[in-house]
Amino acid sequence: MTKKFLTIDDFDVSGKTVLLRVDFNAPMSPEGKVLDDARIRSHVKTILDLKDAKVIVLAHQSRPGKSDFTTTKPHAEILSKHLGKEVRYVDDLFGSYARSCISAMVPGDVILLENVRFFSEESLERSPKEHTHSYFVQKLLPYVDFFLNDAFAVSHRSHLSVVGFTEEIPSGAGRIMESEIVNLERGLNGERPCVYALGGSKVDDSLHVAQNVLSTGSADSVLFSGVVGNVVLAAAGYKIGKANMDLIAKLGYENQIPIAKDLLDKYGKKIKYPADVALNVNGKRVEASLKEMGKSEHPANDIGLETIVAYTNEIENAGTVILNGPAGVSENPDFAIGTHEIIRAGTRSKFSIIGGGHISAEVNRLGIEGQFSHISTGGGACIEYLSGVELPGITALEKAAAKQEMK
Ligand code: 3PG
Repeated sequence: MTKKFLTIDDFDVSGKTVLLRVDFNAPMSPEGKVLDDARIRSHVKTILDLKDAKVIVLAHQSRPGKSDFTTTKPHAEILSKHLGKEVRYVDDLFGSYARSCISAMVPGDVILLENVRFFSEESLERSPKEHTHSYFVQKLLPYVDFFLNDAFAVSHRSHLSVVGFTEEIPSGAGRIMESEIVNLERGLNGERPCVYALGGSKVDDSLHVAQNVLSTGSADSVLFSGVVGNVVLAAAGYKIGKANMDLIAKLGYENQIPIAKDLLDKYGKKIKYPADVALNVNGKRVEASLKEMGKSEHPANDIGLETIVAYTNEIENAGTVILNGPAGVSENPDFAIGTHEIIRAGTRSKFSIIGGGHISAEVNRLGIEGQFSHISTGGGACIEYLSGVELPGITALEKAAAKQEMK
């Protein structure tokens, strides 16, 4: 692929102020501790390459309304540890406190601003031009020389801190963004059959991806598990039990059942859903048929053994596999079996891509990071990219590069 965006190498950042969008979004403990710092570590190379600049880091943690929607303070502490120097956490985004902290910076300084999603306009899906008019962008613009997007993992969102600065100041890609694009392009031209294993609880994202990869023909089959697996089961007409239906309703995904049904109608056997599950019966794993699941009050927290065998068989015989989202509640070892077996099967396929924060955390836990062709820092962003969807964050960088070229 010809490079259509600028990178750090195209800018003289020495002594300049660089606004760097990263993706530090991490699984958090209920006490507010970062449970997996892989994403934070991944950006260290980019920040080290900016060592002569003043670096203002922008990051988000989770989404409004979720229990792990919290401050970026712990992320600053972890980044400080990995950089070997203090990263100042600034409890503000674009107010006078943030701006005075920025004014006081000297080359070599790194500051991390507060969770960008604490500002509600951040998460509006708006065009770069529309975001440019926000107070957030207008207040920070006079203080920054360059914008770098290293947040591949959130570049499928047309969010303020992803696309809002690129129309106004010279903008390019950080090191992670560069490496993601190069590796995912390799994945796109991989061997067939190409199998997608989609789990986790971002049901809308997963169904959207399945729709894309099946309609473009870039996938030969899609194996569903996790909450999205339950949505597909419900769409296929199975009773999935009250606890599972309640969770789908609580997450606001009841409206995804007809969407999953459309997929089943269109793509039939290319779509696989669980043939059995593991119920969480008072904390214990209990294997259950779909019939038993339908009658049970207990939640399904993993795929069952029969499904594990069928899915892993398909994955290990694939030319290319893309794994995204855990198959169950993988934080609990009893319900991590499906996720771990899918991950291990991925290492036996010819070309394997791991996408998604939570499944990457499980790969790290198993200590087999080195056995995959590529571990993406992105979940939704990774598979949207692989499905040929334009990522607004990348498009904005391409436009910025074209603008620079014309100068
Ligand atoms: C992710 O974890 O996939 C990214 O940080 C994007 O998060 P989002 O799906 O909440 O936008």
